[in-house]
Amino acid sequence: MKKLSVIIAALLLCLSAGASTESDTAKMKWWDEARFGMFVHWGPYSMYGGMYKGHQQRFGGAEWVFNRCKIPYLEYRENASHFNPQEFNADSLVLLARDAGMKYLVFTTKHHDGFAMFQSDASNFNIIDYTSFGRDIVDEVAAACKRHGMKLGFYYSQEQDWGNPGGATARRPMKQGWAHPDSLIIDEYTRTHAGSWDGYQQTRSFDEYFDTVALPQIEELLSRYGEDLSVIFFDYPVRISKEQAGRINALLEKYPQIIINDRLQKDYPGDYKTPENMIPKGPDVEGLYWESCMSIGSSWGYKSWDRQWKSPARIVNTLISTASLGGNLLLNVGPDGRGVVRGEEASCLREVGRWMQENGEVIYGTVRSKLSPEWGKVTRKDGRDRTTLYLCVDKWPEDGKLVLDGNWKVRRASVLHDGKKLKCTRTPSALEIALPMEKPEVLIAGTPVIVKLELSVKLPHETLQTNSAKRLGNQGIEE
Ligand code: GLC
Repeated sequence: MKKLSVIIAALLLCLSAGASTESDTAKMKWWDEARFGMFVHWGPYSMYGGMYKGHQQRFGGAEWVFNRCKIPYLEYRENASHFNPQEFNADSLVLLARDAGMKYLVFTTKHHDGFAMFQSDASNFNIIDYTSFGRDIVDEVAAACKRHGMKLGFYYSQEQDWGNPGGATARRPMKQGWAHPDSLIIDEYTRTHAGSWDGYQQTRSFDEYFDTVALPQIEELLSRYGEDLSVIFFDYPVRISKEQAGRINALLEKYPQIIINDRLQKDYPGDYKTPENMIPKGPDVEGLYWESCMSIGSSWGYKSWDRQWKSPARIVNTLISTASLGGNLLLNVGPDGRGVVRGEEASCLREVGRWMQENGEVIYGTVRSKLSPEWGKVTRKDGRDRTTLYLCVDKWPEDGKLVLDGNWKVRRASVLHDGKKLKCTRTPSALEIALPMEKPEVLIAGTPVIVKLELSVKLPHETLQTNSAKRLGNQGIEE
């Protein structure tokens, strides 16, 4: 009897720690193979482009302009009523993602400003009822994703909401916005009003907001798109209670295929971790599903004066790094107030797409390789009974010998892009691959030469966990 209760207790512990089940693995399969998705931050904040009253927002993403620049509530809402992005074309956006080699798209249905990009009966602060635009943007994005075979994901800010009374208002000091003449007074006000900068924001309690806006809106989105939805990216939990998160989870139960990130509630493990603007260190993501999100520019939302574009080579290298650690990259674009993705972002994505077209096998369907040689990165793909390693050589060895820890039997080694066979020698503890005398050309300067190493054996398998109790550390490599 005692033995039985110990077994039951162990089982329960296992369940509460979120050991992954077979259905979890099945649910995560497409996501874990996709490796590359598009994040889209877009809403009325894009009309500001990070500028307010002629001042550049001093700090942070331009989607925070309402909060950081302390725009009065009524003024922001009035301006949002003029949101009229006539040039937005959901098909172009989805095709841009598809041509870049991305397999899923996560769209901001409502960001922290509280403006719903879909018709909502829970708040009229939405694209249909608050503007004369007359088109439901979420609906257009969902339909375009369906048309082009792109997996659909929704970002939804369930707690921060600065444009619907009662929503949370994270406190940010005026010095992150602009040189407002009343900065001191405003900062003092936010200190004593839970971060709010305008009296309207405090006219309801958070619980009322949650019951009448957040929860019903999530329900609206699920009832319209639940069957088609693959991912929900919740964001920025600070105060949402376990009970409130539980009510959202109860709504999600009907749609077991939806993958949920780890930001529903503080300490909520979710199905995958979401390191932001960095690639985590290997040990921090051991055994976990994870996805790094980052922008091509320096902001999530459109910032008119952005000049810090990541190059296509940098994006490719980031993709290789994330894949070598078994993670995904969710790369963000921020269309402008008219709904147009900037040339810099679009051309970067097209270049990355060109690379993916030739080298996609290095990224898609790979698993964490656990190999970190000093000359570059290694991604790994498992077949039924054989493993292939993709050796991404950043530092070309001077003696032409590429050394890899591990002396597995090799079927074939070749340069990926021209198929040229390479000679492989097994030493007692390593493999030595003779590289061509001349370093082969690469498609995009600054990206590695790739050697495809087909082994005769299958390397040991690593099981990943969803809903894991493990947490990501904060340190990582800054991107
Ligand atoms: C942060 C920011 C937000 C952005 C998000 C992307 O939580 O608050 O503006 O949408 O990260 O991951």
